[in-house]
Formats: sequence, C-alpha cells, structure tokens
Amino acid sequence: MRAQARGNGAGAGYPTARPRRLRRSSALRRLVSNVRLHPSDLVLPMFVKEGVADPVPLASMPGVVQHTRSSLRGAAVEAAEAGVGGLILFGVPAEKDARGSAADDPDGIVQLALADLASEVGGDVVLMTDLCLDEYTDHGHCGLLTDSGEVDNDATLARYGAIAVAQARAGAEVVAPSGMMDGQVGAIRAALDAEGFVDLPIIAYSAKYASAFYGPFREAAECAPQFGDRTGYQQDPARSAEEARREVALDLAEGADAVMVKPALAYLDVLRAVADTVDVPVAAYQVSGEYAMVEAAAAAGWIDRDRAIDETLTAISRAGADIILTYWATEVARRLAAAR
Ligand code: PBG
Repeated sequence: MRAQARGNGAGAGYPTARPRRLRRSSALRRLVSNVRLHPSDLVLPMFVKEGVADPVPLASMPGVVQHTRSSLRGAAVEAAEAGVGGLILFGVPAEKDARGSAADDPDGIVQLALADLASEVGGDVVLMTDLCLDEYTDHGHCGLLTDSGEVDNDATLARYGAIAVAQARAGAEVVAPSGMMDGQVGAIRAALDAEGFVDLPIIAYSAKYASAFYGPFREAAECAPQFGDRTGYQQDPARSAEEARREVALDLAEGADAVMVKPALAYLDVLRAVADTVDVPVAAYQVSGEYAMVEAAAAAGWIDRDRAIDETLTAISRAGADIILTYWATEVARRLAAAR
C-alpha cells in the first residue's frame, strides 16, 4: 500500500466516520480480523459400511463416501495429518432389526471400526461416536417402538446406555447422543459410570431440530424412517431459542460435558443464544444438506465453492461455535494450514 492520496477533493468533515479505512488492504483486514477457524476445532463426520469391498460414493454428497474399514483408516490418517481435531463415526450395518441390535454388538461395524481407528490415529484426533439407533433399526427411527408404532422414550434409554458402553469399550473417546430422547444424557452417564467409564465425556446433541437439511444423510446412513418422521422427538424450527436453552440446561443438569446445536446455518440465532448462555464448549453441526447445497450450486457454476465453504464456517464460528462438525473438515484444515 502506498501513501494515501491527499487533497483529492473530499471535503473535510463528512463523512465523519470511515469504517472503510480498515478494509483498504488485505494486510489491514488480516490485522483486524477476529473470527478465525482452526483445524483443531473441526470434526469430520465419517460413515463406515459393513460388508462392502470398495467405498460407496454418495450421489447427494459429492466427495463423501460410505467407507470400508480399510478406506476409513486411510481417510482418518489424512484428517489427522491435516490437523483436524476429531472424527465422528456413523455405522451402516449389513443387518438391521427392530431393536437395532448391531448398535451395541461388540462385533458391530462401528465397534470394529473404532478399534481400527484407535490403533491408527488414536491420540492424534479425538474419536467420537454418534450415539443413536436410527442407523441400526429396520424402521429407521431413533428409538424402540411401542406396539402402536410410537417411539418409546424410556425403553430407548436402556438401549442408549448399552450402546454407550459398547462404544466406550471399543475405544470411543467421546460419545455424542443424537436421538433427542428425554433423559438420554442422564441414562448414558449412569451406564458409563457403572462400567467404570467415569472419565468419558458426553457431547450432547442438545438442540437438534427436525430439519429438511438432513436429507442427504439419510442416504449416507441408510436411515430414512420407514413411516412417519422425526417431528415427534426433534425440535420444531418454528420455536424460538428458548426451547433450545431449556434442552441445553436439561442436558447439562444430566451431566453433558459439551452441547451441540444442529443444523448450523439455519440456526445461527439458536447457536448464539446457547453460546451466550452456557459455560461449556458449544459445538455446531454443519449437516449433510448444508454440504449438498453448496456443492450443488458450485457444480452448477453459480457460486465460488471455496469462498462459500469458508464463509459458512466463519459464520458458524462467529455465532459462537467452539467446535464445528463439517464434511469439509480435512479440506478446510489443509487450506487453513496452507494459508498460514
Ligand atoms: C441421527 C443423526 C442424524 C444426523 C446426525 N445424527 C439424522 C437425523 O436426525 O435424521 C444428520 C447429520 C447430517 O444430516 O449431516 N443419528
């Protein structure tokens, strides 16, 4: 930047304030910027599918695959090398049943994959697991069903406790319950403590909305509900952040160590409200539909892909997220490292 031009005709006195002064060069902008993404705050969601010989690409999430156990290891190493802070694992079992038996089977796909990852990248990245039943049930709901086909909250809690223990035994370093059952954090905490896992943290998906933006995930995890939807247990987007605050407070009272808001981009107000309320780390999940939207628009040539990705993540960080789950974690971590 050269010395500023003077006497170019601008009258003294007006405008009196010139916020543009600090935007005049990239060096100035960098100096004053105060929302920064860090690779270590990013968590990569990963899918591992039982019984496939090759990774399965997902049409609705270009660039994301259902991994084999072996390709999962490779992708985990890449994420760790890029400096990503954590991985969150979703299992896609070969067999599903009404009670989601594969979810807590010691030989279930997630448990086996966790053990692989513990030996491959353990200590370098935090190994997290999504703790839910929808990937494992044949009906696709997040809990057990009553005879009349409703999700049975209290019966489901015992299943969640068993899954938490199975995941902990297999090497999970954090469990993240996402089923939105009332009392799930307390039930999981009690089950973990009873088996000696008193030090294992719970990051609770506390404020999770019934969202159209989970669409592509249902392909990825093969868990579209076979009837009905999740509006009976996930939150209604048409309620103010008060309800999120209440869910968060309940989870903290039950022993959550950190809380999550999900989805991210359409819920930045909720994220900000939660971040202003709690004194624990706050995570936000940039979900499958948020990913698909940007990828689709970029593929059509309608937006600048990388800028759009960085802008969404910056917005999520600015709204108060300490931890961001994003399918772009490895790519963005690399970009951040290269920009340094
Ligand atoms: C439930 C779960 C879902 C997602 C994460 N955990 C699906 C749902 O609630 O319907 C969605 C994540 C995404 O869309 O990226 N186990």
